[in-house]
Amino acid sequence: MTAGLIEVRDVGKTFGSVIALREVSTVVNAGQVTCVLGDNGAGKSTLIKILAGAHQHDTGEFLVDGAPVRFNSPRDALERGIATVYQDLAVVPLMSVWRNFFLGSEPKVGWGPFTMVDRRKAKELTRASLAELGIDLRDVEQPVGTLSGGERQCVAIARAVHFGARVLILDEPTAALGVKQAGVVLRYVAQARDRGLGVVLITHNPHHAYPVGDRFLLLKRGRSLGCFDKADITLAELTRQMAGGAELEALEHELRAVGAVDGG
Ligand SMILES: Nc1ncnc2c1ncn2[C@@H]1O[C@H](COP(=O)(O)OP(=O)(O)OP(=O)(O)O)[C@@H](O)[C@H]1O
Ligand SMILES: [Mg+2]
Repeated sequence: MTAGLIEVRDVGKTFGSVIALREVSTVVNAGQVTCVLGDNGAGKSTLIKILAGAHQHDTGEFLVDGAPVRFNSPRDALERGIATVYQDLAVVPLMSVWRNFFLGSEPKVGWGPFTMVDRRKAKELTRASLAELGIDLRDVEQPVGTLSGGERQCVAIARAVHFGARVLILDEPTAALGVKQAGVVLRYVAQARDRGLGVVLITHNPHHAYPVGDRFLLLKRGRSLGCFDKADITLAELTRQMAGGAELEALEHELRAVGAVDGG
């Protein structure tokens, strides 16, 4: 197995009196997908914000390429090749796809006061980067706002890959999508993985996580329920854990006792 790109060991984070994360450990390897699962408030976003440089951990260790780090800003994380695609994506709906792809880092032509954006090259690069991930957009001049939610996620993923990300963090990329669109996004997640990126995929949905995941970190109220390799957990077990496992069984039992559900 390749060395871990990112590793957290017993990391913890508190906000005032709220313990958002306690003793959580996991690893992100090149060419693999680490899924972070958990209910609302479980600490998923807190964990990835630590990885992305938006928060700092209070306890435990955060290692990049085997060495302890402490990022002061998202820029520090980006410089180490850790790119994050947030749910709102920070795209500008009225701007064209290619403008959104570069967002200020467009290739230039000319020199001095005559420097300007090389539109032709920018559009060609955008088209080529998207095509490499198998995304075929008819027109990169169309406003991003005209793309579907799934296509927008794909543009953001292609952008991260193009700008040299080694680790790609996706916060709930499939949450607002229908079944088919979610499938499209998951396919690009798999393609980023196959290109050797380490992917961190946050989701509520074990059915989205299981097909692409190599490792599953389950969080509950800031604590880890465990980090399982795919070989060590089935989809059924993952779903059971996510649904609250024993709690759900207790609830069912209770409902049955009051005759709310059939005993069959
Ligand atoms: N900046 C903050 N200040 C205070 N408390 C916070 C802050 N960020 C998160 N929390 C608290 O930490 C806990 C974990 O929140 P977090 O956003 O990490 O959960 P999550 O798993 O991402 O949930 P969701 O699925 O709803 O996005 C919650 O109790 C939340 O209220
Ligand atoms: Mg969250």
